[in-house]
Amino acid sequence: MFHHTTFTTLKLDEMVAFYENVAGLEPVYYGENAAWLTNDAANHRIALLALPGMKAPDDKGHTIGLHHTAFEHRSFEQWIDNYDRLAAQGIEPFLNLDHGMTMSMYYQDPEGNGVEIQVDAFGDWAKSKEFMWASEEFDRNPIGMHFDPAKVSAAHRAGLSFEEIHAKATAGEYLPAVIPEVYLPEFW
Ligand SMILES: [Fe+2]
Repeated sequence: MFHHTTFTTLKLDEMVAFYENVAGLEPVYYGENAAWLTNDAANHRIALLALPGMKAPDDKGHTIGLHHTAFEHRSFEQWIDNYDRLAAQGIEPFLNLDHGMTMSMYYQDPEGNGVEIQVDAFGDWAKSKEFMWASEEFDRNPIGMHFDPAKVSAAHRAGLSFEEIHAKATAGEYLPAVIPEVYLPEFW
């Protein structure tokens, strides 16, 4: 069973605040040079180490390694509310994809790591897994369809159900004005 990911950081406090705000993690232990956070029953899911001598990457988006970690909401309602709450703070995802088995928004943490916030389109991991290995749809397009989260949020407020919204997103009805890159944006 996968348990946690550990990041090194030069911005410990900013990273703790970001993961609290975006993904609902709370510190289990918050020290001078390290913090361990969780958002479920595990003792920690994300660890942050501020080790001496670490330096920022110079081309993270085009350097191999970790692209993103992912967190899953239990309901569409919760997931889109999280988007609205963060958007009101000016925190926007850089990439949004309906993968078929999930609808996913990708944010960047203060060190530039991707953080995927997703909701399962099936509400059932067995069905979701089957979609990936057995469906022609996934084989045809394993990356999925881009969507504009503001359009999805508006559709939700207009009363459309998750099923309707997911179907429209899959059909490309909520495309963003500009299709973003999947590379992590550079900001150093
Ligand atoms: Fe992912």
